[in-house]
Amino acid sequence: MNKTLILGIETSCDETAAAVVSGGSRLHSNIIASQAELHRKYGGVVPEIASRRHLETVNFVIEQALSAAGCTFSDLAAIAVTYGPGLVGALLVGVNTAKTLAYALGKPLLAVNHIEAHIAANYLVQEIQFPAVCLVASGGHTTLLYLAARGEAELLGATRDDAAGEAFDKIARVLNLGYPGGPAIEQAAQSGNPEAFSFPRAFSGRDDLFEFSFSGLKSAVINTVHRLEQKGEKTPAADVAAAFQQAVVEILVEKTRLAAAEKKVKTVLLAGGVAANSLLRDRLEQVLREDGRKLFYPPPDLCTDNAAMVAAAGWDLFREGKFAGLDLNAVPVLDIFRQGE
Ligand code: KG4
Ligand code: ZN
Repeated sequence: MNKTLILGIETSCDETAAAVVSGGSRLHSNIIASQAELHRKYGGVVPEIASRRHLETVNFVIEQALSAAGCTFSDLAAIAVTYGPGLVGALLVGVNTAKTLAYALGKPLLAVNHIEAHIAANYLVQEIQFPAVCLVASGGHTTLLYLAARGEAELLGATRDDAAGEAFDKIARVLNLGYPGGPAIEQAAQSGNPEAFSFPRAFSGRDDLFEFSFSGLKSAVINTVHRLEQKGEKTPAADVAAAFQQAVVEILVEKTRLAAAEKKVKTVLLAGGVAANSLLRDRLEQVLREDGRKLFYPPPDLCTDNAAMVAAAGWDLFREGKFAGLDLNAVPVLDIFRQGE
């Protein structure tokens, strides 16, 4: 047995994933079975279909992760699984699979918060100097955090309504660009003019400096598209995508820059699916460099949902002996400070 080898399992949304990581940072395998194709025709994730597909796939994905890592179940030190936040039926597949394995193998079970896991994706690619500020932007969350050390997160602010990724997905649907929306908008925007439309940015006042709001922007884009349709004009999808992407990126960059300045950190991390966006990476990197700070982010396949990040975050729980019981349940609504109920 390798005393640091952790199997991670992730089924919170529409990726069935398993990975093997040692010592919380060394990646041995990372298998992701995406369901995107299955949900595409519905324009978003259908929870029942997601759970059923997780059930059909999870055992094969785990077998592949072990075989690609060149290890067996008996080599593992522990089993880590995402237990929330996410879709309850989808989460339950991973949680029950992990509990069964932990029981049958007599290994510790580690209950990982999906948001902590997104942050931990950064630890798989580079050594991080703390303290740091982290922007987690995904389909379900847009949150600014202060990290005093690895695994120690303090909330600075979050979205009051839609998450950034959710806004990308909705606008992509309105523009008929397909699902998932983020990559589709990013691609369409490449041939668009970001100045063709001027969409609102919600920056707000001093007391809610680190909070986000994307619902006004989303409505403004949708209203613009509807107005064009009513006038019988063809929507210039590339221009709308480019102007929308620019607005979201500007908000994310400005607030993250302010948070880093206020907390006086040298290090800033990006995490979550939206962190795969090249415009966000480039703009943020540029403004932080001007301020004398350094930006880190995982490669795109470690930004979106995967199990390597779950195994990496599981390592922090393992080191501290924070093992979950076999009564672990899925917790669909879970913030970053609560470790279960
Ligand atoms: O982290 P993630 O895989 O799942 C959640 O935990 O939600 O994030 C998925 C979100 C989706 O909303 C997707 O549209 C967005 O991340 N996304 C992107 C990009 N790639 C994925 N958003 C903008 N640009 C991208 N390149
Ligand atoms: Zn995620």
